[in-house]
Amino acid sequence: MAAMEKTAVIQDDLPWSLESNRAYLAWRERKLDNYAQVLHAPAVRIADLANPSESERAELIERCRKTNLAIYRTDPANPDAMAVRRELRSFVDGFGLKIAERHRSAGEQGIVALTVTDAERQRGYIPYSRKAINWHTDGYYNAPDEQILAMVLHCVRPAADGGVSQLMDNEIAYIRLRDRDPALIEALMHPEAMSIPENAEPDGSLRPVSVGPVFSVGSDGKLTMRYTARTRSISWRDDATTRKAAAILQAILTGDDPLMLTAKLAAGQGVLCNNVLHNRTAFDPDTDQPSNRLFYRVRFHNRVKGS
Ligand SMILES: [Fe+2]
Repeated sequence: MAAMEKTAVIQDDLPWSLESNRAYLAWRERKLDNYAQVLHAPAVRIADLANPSESERAELIERCRKTNLAIYRTDPANPDAMAVRRELRSFVDGFGLKIAERHRSAGEQGIVALTVTDAERQRGYIPYSRKAINWHTDGYYNAPDEQILAMVLHCVRPAADGGVSQLMDNEIAYIRLRDRDPALIEALMHPEAMSIPENAEPDGSLRPVSVGPVFSVGSDGKLTMRYTARTRSISWRDDATTRKAAAILQAILTGDDPLMLTAKLAAGQGVLCNNVLHNRTAFDPDTDQPSNRLFYRVRFHNRVKGS
């Protein structure tokens, strides 16, 4: 497959233009001004997950607009997993989201159950194990026209031990890199910056090679990010600045950035986000005991409406 289309010339009035710092600096100041305050605000309480009120929905959108993510809690949490699927489907409809249905494990309602399983089609895939998951954005191996721009992770049952996630807004990662050296951003916007080789899927199909930038700008002028911290089955463009940029990004993500969020979602809690960077620690290490952890994940081809 060809590389993702070369990023269109970025207009000077967008913060992503490397030609002019004016728009970037103004945007950066606005972004950082109220960021920490919003990031550490309590989770947004949703009284009825299937039918959030106008004010609950507005608060979630506002947080996504400011930080690209919002943590919510339903109270009380519904322990009935099938009912939660229906509620989640109704919930996401309120944000104008288009569900990406084609994921191999998408179950009823386009929702994927992330739980420990040795079902054949999921065996060997880390999300369905107790293992840690390294930093990534979802769908980093997808074709350009199937990019994941938003997602919901909803906790039905947390792990007894572990299963903690860190989250980082892609725009904060961008700021950290650009403040260090705009050449790092330029390298990561190259249309061949990061390649994921083809992969034989358990269902017999072949996922094609995915070549593209780490940062790109959509037709809506929004920044998107395609990234994995994996070190196997990945190739970075053979260029010193690209290698340096990948190493610095990795160091930022394993550091203790004050705008990084750490969350162990409790039952009934979830995160709605514009596909921000995230990871997960290992959980329930005693393999003689079954792990009860169950998360639902829904992925979308567009961003949270209004964010
Ligand atoms: Fe993920």
